[in-house]
Parts: sequence; structure tokens; C-alpha cells
Amino acid sequence: MQHKNFKNIDKVVFGRGSFSMLSDIIAPVRKENKNYFVFVIDAYFKGKELVKRIPALPEDLVLFEDVDAHEPTTQQIDALRNTILAQKGLPSGIVGIGGGSIMDIAKATALMLTNEGSSTQYQGLNLIKKPGVYHLGIPTISGTGAECSSTAVLTGPVKKLGLKCEWTVFNQVILDPELIASVPNDWWFHTGMDTYIHCIESENGTLNNAFSHAYAEQALSLCRDVFLNEQSGRSAQNDDKLMVASLMGGLSLSYSEVGVCHALSYGLSKILDYRHCYANCVAFQHLEDVYPQGVQEFKKMVAKHKIVLPQHLAEEWSEDILTKMAEVAYNLPHMWHQAFGEAWKEKVSLLYIKDLYKRL
Ligand SMILES: [Fe+2]
Repeated sequence: MQHKNFKNIDKVVFGRGSFSMLSDIIAPVRKENKNYFVFVIDAYFKGKELVKRIPALPEDLVLFEDVDAHEPTTQQIDALRNTILAQKGLPSGIVGIGGGSIMDIAKATALMLTNEGSSTQYQGLNLIKKPGVYHLGIPTISGTGAECSSTAVLTGPVKKLGLKCEWTVFNQVILDPELIASVPNDWWFHTGMDTYIHCIESENGTLNNAFSHAYAEQALSLCRDVFLNEQSGRSAQNDDKLMVASLMGGLSLSYSEVGVCHALSYGLSKILDYRHCYANCVAFQHLEDVYPQGVQEFKKMVAKHKIVLPQHLAEEWSEDILTKMAEVAYNLPHMWHQAFGEAWKEKVSLLYIKDLYKRL
């Protein structure tokens, strides 16, 4: 019998103001390799207050990455790795400050700094050959669970697939809810819903078990506080809850899987460049037959926060686009297996998936 033997984050600090512990946390790691740190920061923070608080020493590299246009690509990671090595050699570690994309960039770059060749050759499970450098994640938006996942999702020329192995997991995560207070409302909602959808897909699938259920149940309860219940909405207390929900939703997945919505979402991201969390919301609203209660509750939250999700998108999509997206989604067997079990191929075909896309 094979059970998952999953790798958790080495160390986690949670609390308001915990960002200020960063300098002390990385100080002992500075003796490694070429004795300097790389800070990879979402370009959104350029010139903002947070950047002034980053404890970079003169020898450190501070790099701003633009993650607005698209999700992290293999090309982007290879270029970043080459720049870092060419400028200063192997760093002591890498700190990622931003949302899910920055978390994935930090994790992937940490690995690629010690693994030769292009990251495209490592897209998949356990293909990475050597441990990367020390890497630390500081989320500034909550929901993707990227802070705890063992995958750094990358879009390559052929596939959207993660570098997935034990070494991908962060050595340290700093969860400071003060950092997510200024997230624009739509992003706050879409990204929070990524957590909600993680939990619904984790719960309603063949791999669900007591371990994944315990985390999902608690994360769902926190999501309802943040997005549905009387006290829902933007507040310091709800930011605390959302940050923990994101982590717990991710931990639920570490022992379960995502399902139909995420499979469709990957197709939307790979072919049409939709952002992950937004793509999930766009798809999830139409999956009432697969996740009846989840979708009903989701729609209540959409209405409560006056979020507008696009309709009739598929009318604009050619057969070719639909086929390409369906192929991306079909090639995620673990998600279909989670949703429909061992015999998923009896239900799921390219045609079935295209029909799902046509609902959008
Ligand atoms: Fe997700």
C-alpha cells in the first residue's frame, strides 16, 4: 500500500507585524554559498512602503518581477536563474514577496539555481535532481495555497505543469496578515475563492480522507466567516482568517487533490492566459451539477460582495480554442480521477470537456 509521505514547510511564523522578523530569520543562512540573498518582489510594490521595510544588505540582489501579464513561465525562470548566477554566483537563499505567482517564482528559481539546463525538462513529479538553495515565502495576497504546496506551477511551451518535489516546499514562510490589507477587492475575492474551491474539490473527491477533511472543514468555515457570514468583508480579523484558510486549504490538498474546476482553469490559463484564481471563478459558477452545494454557496458570496463574473465567453471561442483547452484539461488525469474515480474515462472525454467549456 502506498500512502503519500508529504513534506511540510520547515518553519512558519504567523502574526501581525511578523514581517519585521525577516532580517533575524535569514541572518544565520547568510553564511551559505556566496553570502548574499536574492529578494524577488511583485513589481506592484515598486516605490511602495513595503519595499522600504525589506532588510536587504548592500550585497543583496533586489529584483522586481512583473506578474500581471501572465503566470510564471519556464522561460522567465531560466532567465532569472541565469541573471542571478551571472551577476553574483550562487546565493545563500531567495526570498519571495508577493502573491501565488511570486511564491512559485521563488520556489522554482531556488531549485533551478542548482539544477542545470532549462526548467522545461523538470516539469513533472520528482524530476528535479538536486535540492535548491534556501527559500522563504512571504505572501501579500492569500488564497492560492502556494505558500505550502510542493509544486511551483510553470507554463512552458508545451505544458502548464509544476516542478513538483519535496525540495520545492519553502524552508520558511512568514504569514503577516497586515500585508494583505491593501489587496484590490476583485483580487481579494478571486484569490480567496481559490481557497474555497480547493476545499470543495478536496472534499468532493475520491482521495478525501480524515486528514484532508479536517483541514478543508476548518478552511471552509474560515472562508464563510470572511466571505459569507454577517461579519464578512474586509477587516483585520478577516485578513487573519483568510491567511490561515489559504494555508489550511493548501494543506488539505497536500493529502487530497483538486478536481474539475482546476482542470478547466488550467486550460484557460494555458491557452487564453487567464489568471489562475480568476479562471477558477469563471469556471466554477457553471459546475453546479458536479459541486451542487459548493456552487450555490459560491454564488451567494459573489452576490454578497457584488463581484461581476463574465458570462457567454464561449460564444467568442473557436472550435480550435475549445479543443486546445480541452486537451490541456484532459491531460490532468489526477484531477479527473479525484473528481470521478478510477473509471473517470468512462465519463470524461475531450467532447465532455469541450461541453463544459461551452457553458462558460
Ligand atoms: Fe488553485
